[in-house]
Amino acid sequence: MKKQLVTCVLLLSFLFIFPVEIQAADSNAPVEIKSIDLPKPVTEGGKPLMEALKERKSTREFSDEKLSLQTLSNMLWAANGISRPDGKRTAPSARNKQEIDIYVAMEDGTYLYDAKENKLIGVVAEDIREATGMQPFVKNAPVNLLFVADYDKMGDGSNEQKDFYAATDTGYVSQNVYLFCASEGLATVVRGMVDRDKCKAALKLKDSQKIILAQTVGYPKR
Ligand SMILES: Cc1cc2nc3c(=O)[nH]c(=O)nc-3n(C[C@H](O)[C@H](O)[C@H](O)COP(=O)(O)O)c2cc1C
Repeated sequence: MKKQLVTCVLLLSFLFIFPVEIQAADSNAPVEIKSIDLPKPVTEGGKPLMEALKERKSTREFSDEKLSLQTLSNMLWAANGISRPDGKRTAPSARNKQEIDIYVAMEDGTYLYDAKENKLIGVVAEDIREATGMQPFVKNAPVNLLFVADYDKMGDGSNEQKDFYAATDTGYVSQNVYLFCASEGLATVVRGMVDRDKCKAALKLKDSQKIILAQTVGYPKR
């Protein structure tokens, strides 16, 4: 009896000391997603602008080869990274509101690009690539970007004006991705076809955050 009591006390103290490990072993517990520090972007080199413009195009066939962290870092910096000491970006934004966030959907989860810290903030550990589009290639392409405008960052003005600025500001970011891809021999296509409801739910976006467009990026299928 005494022996059983001691075992019971020992077991209870073990549970008390290691509750986190026990929780992690629970298969229903949500999988945690870690943030990723990106390597410093390489902001020199690449093809001359006129050549990149000549080669810019939409491609809808991707290999499933992944992008390295260095390539991701370079691409996100080209898309909407901080390019000047005053915090301004590679893409212009109406009244410099910088309301376009880039979510990066990959096989291991979806991340938010933090341009200031040059990192990918983990958002969900789920693979939501399929929900980012309605075309078969999106599911297996390594990267699907979601351009999300945060209307809370846009200050005063009518919703009509905000819709207009959010759309134009996204266009600049998307074209930057197109030119980076043309320069690096990557394949890409910007897409209006996005399952916005599914993505909004998966990413737990606020009502003030609107998914404007998506853009698939990867290596061309050989
Ligand atoms: C706002 C916008 C939305 C688009 N949506 C899609 C889309 O959902 N799916 C797709 O395959 N291409 C989409 N495209 C790509 C266009 O079809 C493509 O840019 C056009 O055919 C011209 O081809 P190019 O980009 O090679 O010049 C979109 C382009 C823009 C600008």
